[in-house]
Amino acid sequence: MLKGKVAIVTGGSRGIGYAVVEKFLANGASVVLCASREETAKKAVDQLKKINADYQVEGICPNLSNYDEVEAAFAKVKEKYGKIDILVNNAGISADKKLENYPAEEFKKIMDLNVTAIFNCTKAVVPYMKEAKSGVVLNTSSMVSKFGQPSGCGYPASKFAVNGLTISLARELGADGIRVNAVAPGVINTDMMKAVPEEYIAPIVRNIPLGRIGEPEDIANAFLFLASDLASYVSGAVLSVDGATLT
Ligand SMILES: NC(=O)c1ccc[n+]([C@@H]2O[C@H](COP(=O)([O-])OP(=O)(O)OC[C@H]3O[C@@H](n4cnc5c(N)ncnc54)[C@H](O)[C@@H]3O)[C@@H](O)[C@H]2O)c1
Repeated sequence: MLKGKVAIVTGGSRGIGYAVVEKFLANGASVVLCASREETAKKAVDQLKKINADYQVEGICPNLSNYDEVEAAFAKVKEKYGKIDILVNNAGISADKKLENYPAEEFKKIMDLNVTAIFNCTKAVVPYMKEAKSGVVLNTSSMVSKFGQPSGCGYPASKFAVNGLTISLARELGADGIRVNAVAPGVINTDMMKAVPEEYIAPIVRNIPLGRIGEPEDIANAFLFLASDLASYVSGAVLSVDGATLT
């Protein structure tokens, strides 16, 4: 479904991002994954090459919150591959703290990665996509962008902002042949969820009509659809992939 495409996936070394990288590779794309550390990038690339030695995959580690670093790193990708067809803005962090215990620096850290990094990465690839008159930008939102949550306000605030960027940039860039969409996962079985206290997870699972939490591959399948030509008339969407989780 993505034969010949070149994709960049942030937060691609583990969890949802890793599943997206694997899915894109299996569907014929060349993928550059962004990780925060060289060792984790290398580990992920080695793991993927073990699955299939022919996979075209490499890791890079720009500081996503720093526009100049992102621009320089993505320029190298463009130089090497000749184009960038797909950007998946997936890297994200959360913090579960009540407002009175929420350090201002932590709120800023969440915004820097979950929101500013999406701005930086998108701004850096869009000139190449405009030149090609086509491109796909996909963002990882969250079901908390519909519901909010009773603790850790920075995370849902950042994901509401992700939806805002998605819908606004879809409108701004559509005339250039660039589609912008988001996937809003429900509770997914990754390291991020391991940090969430069990007392929050159990009631959420009881509220999932499909009866289970999601797997990273459930989300990767949605990204594959949105990245592919099957979604050629889909832009500005925030696709819930949450087993119909109830509020
Ligand atoms: N797991 C869930 O239940 C769930 C639900 C909704 C949305 N999400 C979103 O999915 C995305 C991926 O999360 P995940 O569940 O795979 O979590 P995860 O913790 O396994 O992965 C997070 C990814 O972000 C990267 N990252 C973290 N800090 C970074 C930094 N400073 N610079 C660059 N990269 C950094 C990590 O390397 C990792 O690849 C996030 O945006 C998250 O908000 C997750």
